[in-house]
Amino acid sequence: MAHPNSDIIPTVEGLAYGGDYNPEQWPREVWDEDVRLMREAGVNIVSVNIFAWASVHPGPDTWDFEQLDAIMDLLASAGIKADLATSTASPPPWFSQLHPETLPVNAEGVRLNSGARAEYCPHAPAFQSKVAEMASRLAERYADHPALAMWHVGNEYYRSCFCDLAADAFRAWLQDRHGSLAGLNDAWGTTFWSQTYSDWSQVLPPRICAETPNPGLLLDWQRFSSDALLKLFRSEADAITAFSPDKPITTNLMVTGDFSFLDYHRWGDHVTGPNRLVATDHYLIPPHDSDIEWPAQVAFGADASRGLAAGSPWLLMEQSTNSSAWRRGYFAKRPGDQLRHSLSYVARGSEGAMYFQWRASRYGAERYHSAMLPHGGEDSKVFREVKEFGAQLRRLAEIKGSKVVSRAAILLDFESCWAAKTPGQPSSDMATYPELRRWHAALWRRGITTDLANPAWDLSAYEYVFAPHLYLLDSDANLRAYVENGGRLVIGPYSGVVDHNDHVHPGLPGAIRDLTGVRVEEFVPLAEGERAQLDDGTEGQTWTEAAHAIDAEVIASFKDYPATGAVFHRRLGRGEVWYLATRPADLNPLFNRLGLFSDTPEGLELVRRRHEDGRTYLFAINHTDQSHTVAASGTNLLTGTQWTGELAPGETAVIRE
Ligand code: GLA
Repeated sequence: MAHPNSDIIPTVEGLAYGGDYNPEQWPREVWDEDVRLMREAGVNIVSVNIFAWASVHPGPDTWDFEQLDAIMDLLASAGIKADLATSTASPPPWFSQLHPETLPVNAEGVRLNSGARAEYCPHAPAFQSKVAEMASRLAERYADHPALAMWHVGNEYYRSCFCDLAADAFRAWLQDRHGSLAGLNDAWGTTFWSQTYSDWSQVLPPRICAETPNPGLLLDWQRFSSDALLKLFRSEADAITAFSPDKPITTNLMVTGDFSFLDYHRWGDHVTGPNRLVATDHYLIPPHDSDIEWPAQVAFGADASRGLAAGSPWLLMEQSTNSSAWRRGYFAKRPGDQLRHSLSYVARGSEGAMYFQWRASRYGAERYHSAMLPHGGEDSKVFREVKEFGAQLRRLAEIKGSKVVSRAAILLDFESCWAAKTPGQPSSDMATYPELRRWHAALWRRGITTDLANPAWDLSAYEYVFAPHLYLLDSDANLRAYVENGGRLVIGPYSGVVDHNDHVHPGLPGAIRDLTGVRVEEFVPLAEGERAQLDDGTEGQTWTEAAHAIDAEVIASFKDYPATGAVFHRRLGRGEVWYLATRPADLNPLFNRLGLFSDTPEGLELVRRRHEDGRTYLFAINHTDQSHTVAASGTNLLTGTQWTGELAPGETAVIRE
């Protein structure tokens, strides 16, 4: 049975609240305490069996569901739902020993050993058939279990492998994509450095080689690796559907850092179909490693997740109450951070808030990873806030299914990110992700709710669309349509430069030359820390271009070399397009020029969710240490009282308008 995206986990009452739960790490008596405390905290769903392959399938001919049965029954008796994982993310040592060819090989040609997790080659037939079998056995057994709410396939897919099996699969994928060896040679531009292939057997994964590898090969390898993992995901999802057609099926996508290993927009199509939902994991980067404040990081993770669900509700599958174990430098959040962060994810479209993990592990690589129930126990800031947020979520049940209202979009294209990362570029500092995050944070500080959208999508609902760095673009058609129909588009430098094969378009800036009415003569990158002065008093950093107006107005120019236009503006149809021939050191003057004002003080987060029938909810989160007035009228769902207008320092409110 298909269900609409407005109720992504139909059997969970209200919003989802819980986390990864690993009872296999604990004696039975602890399970009872877990369930008691989960109920106290308002937990209504937990992810189980993620890393339990070794207990469910302890040997080639043994299956043992006793423990999982007990866990599922316990949850059912406590009224807690299960996000039941297929446990295929971490093959145990027996499997790797029996099928050594399933251990992944890295780009240096070294076969990795078992002993951690995710040790598999996605292209190894023994692994492929085993994971489909596991999914099938679990689905057959638990399809009608009363605890089952949804399926969790694998975990955080990212593994690539460079072995001979991978090479065979890569060749088959390339034959499909390019049709013939001539097509491949053409796409990869193999006349360069005499790389021409005369037989398919010569084509290899991008294993380490003597000098800069072919960028076309690297780009296709990324596409292939993403498709291969998607195929693996789908094989499990299809095996589940055969027995359990009515429950959502998902996997946890990663939106932390440069989350561009997989083409998540293509993945989104597969996890948002009937019975499938987009779920993401998001972790904060500590202050010593990021100049973006935590609330803005949370907003980016949430807005990126919503983008993967193409604007529909999604689910935050993992976040952390405090530090994760894998960050450089442990950190503890300050009182209230957890409440504000979790509410911000919900404000931005998540249908609940889940964590890694319910209870902190006593052993293993993540023994110092934070949890809902920390090593410090129940009498802790963390657990008190976990209980408080659980109570808040229960009061917000009626927002389920509503969508976020956004004024602006930032364009994100995974293929473009991959292409921009290939070596041999004029500047290694023109990285897409940090730039998207910088623009997003600047908009967040202005109180502008921003989507992350694919450049090929319908953009007509947005007042503003920003393309800070869209390096790869085949055609301007969709962007042109947006502008001609009244949109305001801002394109950053070094955009539109290459096509889908990473071939430089003739006549820079290639795909956007006609759209912007600008001609780029040459790239003039800046040294680290160097600033370009513009004649409007603003500064550029990292990159400049000698750019000339063909059919555009020059708004500002570089004072020194290249001494050409730096900011261009063009009216087109009912809209306008801006082109920046440098990265603005400060984005605020640009936003002011665009008339993109908001009267929200910095650090006061205001986001609106709207039901299809028009009911709206204003989420107000005060990340500052001052009181702020929030002009709205209605009931604050968190307190059940009429909204009075004043939001105290650190406080949150959800106003039913
Ligand atoms: C990922 C994984 C989890 C856990 C957390 C720790 O999100 O999915 O299994 O390792 O990281 O932050």
